[in-house]
Amino acid sequence: MPLGPVLRRALGPLEPPVAALYRRVFIDLDAFVAQVALWAGRPGKLLELGCGEGAVVDRLANAFPAASITGIDITPRIGRLSRAAGTRVAFRQITMRDYAAECPGAADLLVACDVLHHVPWEMHEEILRDAGRAVRAGGFIVIKDWQRQSTPIHLLCYMADRYITGDRVRYKTGQELEETIMRVFGTHAIAARARIAPWINNVAYLVRIPPGSESVAAQPEPTGS
Ligand SMILES: C[S@@+](CC[C@H](N)C(=O)[O-])C[C@H]1O[C@@H](n2cnc3c(N)ncnc32)[C@H](O)[C@@H]1O
Repeated sequence: MPLGPVLRRALGPLEPPVAALYRRVFIDLDAFVAQVALWAGRPGKLLELGCGEGAVVDRLANAFPAASITGIDITPRIGRLSRAAGTRVAFRQITMRDYAAECPGAADLLVACDVLHHVPWEMHEEILRDAGRAVRAGGFIVIKDWQRQSTPIHLLCYMADRYITGDRVRYKTGQELEETIMRVFGTHAIAARARIAPWINNVAYLVRIPPGSESVAAQPEPTGS
């Protein structure tokens, strides 16, 4: 049984600050959202895929005060710790596929922070393709993930992810991540890369959905592969 639910119950009202401290060991989410803001300009509609309890959505709401923001996730705990939920911030428990079918091309910017290593590798291309369908032509996707490396902090990250969330996490190397992104969006789709403090394992990619309808993500999914 994962430790997360037990710890949550034990912490009670201390859960939000302890959760923030725990996360801070691995990633500076403020630095991540600052990087997104540098890249993204002024998107009107933001979508966060795999938003979890709302830590990134809350920061996006601060960084983009004029934007409407939707966080989607498959977990029932979606948005639980968010303080931003309200008129311009919404949370929905829905799959990427269903959301993209409902709101094709609706988002100017989609953010996926630390989601891919929680998703089985055989689903990576499918979920990214669906993410691409939810973004307008000329829009952007920011994919941030934790890169696999043989270092003590990587082992600590794995143990924390595996035993606190209980998910069968599996991380890619930087090269594997880039190859996945390029298979879905095309070889020239990565417009920029950035490392996010405090560990070099944190890597973010800016992916541009090409203007016009020629986006790889907009193409029908290949069959028989
Ligand atoms: C480490 S949390 C990251 C949450 C949030 N993005 C953040 O950075 O604070 C990973 C999230 O990915 C979500 N997730 C895993 N598989 C998913 C899928 N197939 N579709 C949508 N979300 C998924 C999990 O439910 C979890 O909330």
